[in-house]
Amino acid sequence: MDQTEIARRIALGRNFTKCAMDGDDGFVSDQQQRLPQPPLVKAAMRERALRLPHDFDNLALAGDYARLVGARRTRRVYTGEAISLLQLSFLLWASQGVESVRGKSYATLRTVPSGGARHAFETYLVVNSVEGLAPGAYHYLPMTHALEFLNPVDNREETVSEMLMGQSWAAKASVVFIFSFVPYRAEWRYGIYAHRVVMIDLGHVGQALYMAAEAMELGTCGIGAFSQAACDRAFSLDGQEEYAVYAQPVGRYADADAPKELEFYAFLKERE
Ligand SMILES: Cc1cc2nc3c(=O)[nH]c(=O)nc-3n(C[C@H](O)[C@H](O)[C@H](O)COP(=O)(O)O)c2cc1C
Repeated sequence: MDQTEIARRIALGRNFTKCAMDGDDGFVSDQQQRLPQPPLVKAAMRERALRLPHDFDNLALAGDYARLVGARRTRRVYTGEAISLLQLSFLLWASQGVESVRGKSYATLRTVPSGGARHAFETYLVVNSVEGLAPGAYHYLPMTHALEFLNPVDNREETVSEMLMGQSWAAKASVVFIFSFVPYRAEWRYGIYAHRVVMIDLGHVGQALYMAAEAMELGTCGIGAFSQAACDRAFSLDGQEEYAVYAQPVGRYADADAPKELEFYAFLKERE
């Protein structure tokens, strides 16, 4: 790639992060044109789904919020132990759970904020070790707080590693969250402005998952470096109307592994 092309793409990228909504560019959204609204969530992909437990009062949550804020860290070394179904349920609810449906099915209000309450993400899981769940690929149904089993995942370790571009440490996580983006759900309202808004939304989702994990003394790591093709393939996403945008493995960690965690920051040591 030559320098001109690099400069062109940098400029495109910078423009993408700017808020252009105040410009008088004549843009009219599909919503303004009164085109039909797309569904609030993706339909179930299987006939059966497992209702998740919701009795979060029974969860042992660690410490107060100020402690959690200070304790949050990216964690990449997992013990490989199973997490409970209630813990997984809490992670799903905290990051994408639906609290209410408003305005005659106009919007979902969830545990995380979203521009225009569009909530244009779906949640998929590769389950490795969660008590009461068979390992494999799952899809979260936020309207009913249920989980549908999609299919087993052959060679789970290699598959997860391939999905996350060789970040094989993630294969020891109890579960890997993959968030997909359903563009038209946001474009219907925001059109050419949708994509910047949803990336901000996604940050909220990721942080919510970090904090929910930390509250249960579980570890997670935001993953921006993933294989688009492998993640889309894992859940049969078409890559146009829906595609993977973010991943987060979650697993138990042990304080004794702190030195191993530091190895991921060897590059910082070199600079000190
Ligand atoms: C959007 C995003 C993408 C990231 N991608 C990766 C990744 O692909 N691999 C990885 O090991 N860490 C990844 N991280 C974790 C960061 O490296 C980590 O947050 C950073 O080093 C700061 O550490 P802290 O989270 O403990 O504060 C990502 C974090 C974010 C927010």
